Amino acid sequence: MNLLELYHVEKVYGEKENQVRALKGINMQVKEGEFIAIVGTSGSGKSTLLNLIGGLDTPTRGKILIKGKETDALTRKELTIFRRRNIGFVFQNYSLMPVLNVYENVALPISFDRGRHHNRKYIEELLRELGIWEKRTKYPHELSGGQQQRVSIARALVNKPAIVLADEPTGNLDSATTVEVIGLLKASCRKYKQTILMVTHNEAIAQTCDRIIHIEDGKIVSGNQIFDVGSASLKGGDDLC
Ligand SMILES: Nc1ncnc2c1ncn2[C@@H]1O[C@H](COP(=O)(O)OP(=O)(O)OP(=O)(O)O)[C@@H](O)[C@H]1O
Ligand SMILES: [Mg+2]
Repeated sequence: MNLLELYHVEKVYGEKENQVRALKGINMQVKEGEFIAIVGTSGSGKSTLLNLIGGLDTPTRGKILIKGKETDALTRKELTIFRRRNIGFVFQNYSLMPVLNVYENVALPISFDRGRHHNRKYIEELLRELGIWEKRTKYPHELSGGQQQRVSIARALVNKPAIVLADEPTGNLDSATTVEVIGLLKASCRKYKQTILMVTHNEAIAQTCDRIIHIEDGKIVSGNQIFDVGSASLKGGDDLC
């Protein structure tokens, strides 16, 4: 089953003469458990694509389906809950809360979700696996970049999301820490059958992923073999939008 499907997705920012067509008709299908690298030059639309998939922004045209559910059909409130339970984000700048310690930062997505309880055992397991259990009472400013990124990975994984979206997660890390962080993401992907879409500028890392999707000028230029097989039947299929 496809966990994620995009049909003719377009994103236009701004109005009139300030318009930027950031995505120009993206079609893609992703299977459960795939670890995908997204590559492309600066400004090609990689972050825009992740933001749309993650529901941080909405497409101008087209459809996005996660677990067969059309995200556009959800109300804002439903989308927030759906996103929190199904999607984990890892950003380049970590985006940790400075006033919360490591444990509290990781538990934060659960705290927002009233229907759910803290699974202390699972949080401990995650922190131990990521090698930051000993740092659980420390604050972000007391940690190295690599440690902060591991906290942000733990936070992204705490709800056991089906999809993890990582936007240059190792962009600020040295090469040894990069290898470590990618290894942790991969291990998590395998253990919890998670699907990971990771933007990276690192060619060597991209080569270790299951698939590389290359975006240029808002279009997928390679890496979409799975979709291409069935795309003939979608030709002229604007009724899908
Ligand atoms: N909020 C916004 N408002 C207007 N234009 C935007 C906005 N966000 C992105 N853009 C434009 O959309 C295009 C795609 O941007 P995007 O951030 O997706 O690129 P990217 O591939 O992630 O680049 P980078 O590798 O530098 O992070 C760029 O031309 C950018 O200037
Ligand atoms: Mg970007």
